[in-house]
Amino acid sequence: MRTDSFRGRDFITLLDWTKEEVETILDVALDLKRRFALGEPHDHILRAKTLFMIFYNQSLRTRNSFEAGMTQLGGHAHYLDPSKIYTPALPGKEVAYSTERVSDVARVLSRMGHAIAIRCYGDPVDWVYGAADEMIRNFAYWADIPVLNMEDDKYHPFQALADILTVYEKFGTFKGVKFVMSWAYSPSVHKPRAVPQSAIIAATKMGMDVVLARPPEMALDPEVIAACKKYAEETGGSFSISEDFEEAAKGAHVLYPKAWAPIQMFKPPVGEDNPELAQEIFDRYKDWKATPEYMALAEPNAIYMHCLPADRGWEVEDSVIDNTDPKSGWRSVVFDEAENRLHVQKAVMSLVMR
Ligand code: CP
Repeated sequence: MRTDSFRGRDFITLLDWTKEEVETILDVALDLKRRFALGEPHDHILRAKTLFMIFYNQSLRTRNSFEAGMTQLGGHAHYLDPSKIYTPALPGKEVAYSTERVSDVARVLSRMGHAIAIRCYGDPVDWVYGAADEMIRNFAYWADIPVLNMEDDKYHPFQALADILTVYEKFGTFKGVKFVMSWAYSPSVHKPRAVPQSAIIAATKMGMDVVLARPPEMALDPEVIAACKKYAEETGGSFSISEDFEEAAKGAHVLYPKAWAPIQMFKPPVGEDNPELAQEIFDRYKDWKATPEYMALAEPNAIYMHCLPADRGWEVEDSVIDNTDPKSGWRSVVFDEAENRLHVQKAVMSLVMR
């Protein structure tokens, strides 16, 4: 693999990156993590470079890991609130002197800095599935600098990188690791599909034995499912879908239960624009919750994962998410997972922005 193959590239979904490239990103992330742990300066890598971060949605982990990451690499990250600039918008969604066409924003920022990172899903695109991904791709079309997806309505690739790095750290391999991405109950149906979709893409790409456990109404994007099947065939791993929360957990090494919206939540043409029905469907599955009994179905050294923020008391009991003791058999690794956001993002930024 050519090492300069990373420079200048957009990072929108792991579907665009080969297994070999993802392995290189993880390798660089581990090197940067080691340097961070030793207090070894590495602020020459992106010295005086600028990342523009546009957040249409809330964030704790993503914003702070990108911002801290840029500081540690010697650059700077600007936080841009879309309501305090002229909100970037696609043609047909423009409002005079309130929005600014994405093509113009992308070309202006390309003259001033070195990458544009965007988070957008849900309300800002009126729950039209794929509209946020389309906007990020429009940024990428017009920008002369890398565009980084900080979570859209289809993909959350940096979360998936952090997830698989955490799995690798805990098990030292991807081969033979049973990775269960499961739906779990939340009282809020305002949940994008980006995390589960990116997690199963990443886990199948790396060759794990992946099970997607979800109620029948919580099916994911057929294009993502097709990609996962293809990766499983290519790598010798496996991919299957289960509608049984507990059966899927048996013998797992990784349990990753979290909520995502059913198709009824999204607007046509993909969805049905029926949030009330979506809520009704959610409420049928209140027993899909990570409890100690659920964790005990897995292997004795299993890990509980969650991208955070978790809906404590609904998706997961405190006794599960707070059990981070490595000596206690199954355990939660959610804070390692959150920390790894920093290291994988620094790796990608170092590779594409240099
Ligand atoms: N996991 C994640 O993306 O967290 P934030 O929403 O806090 O950025």
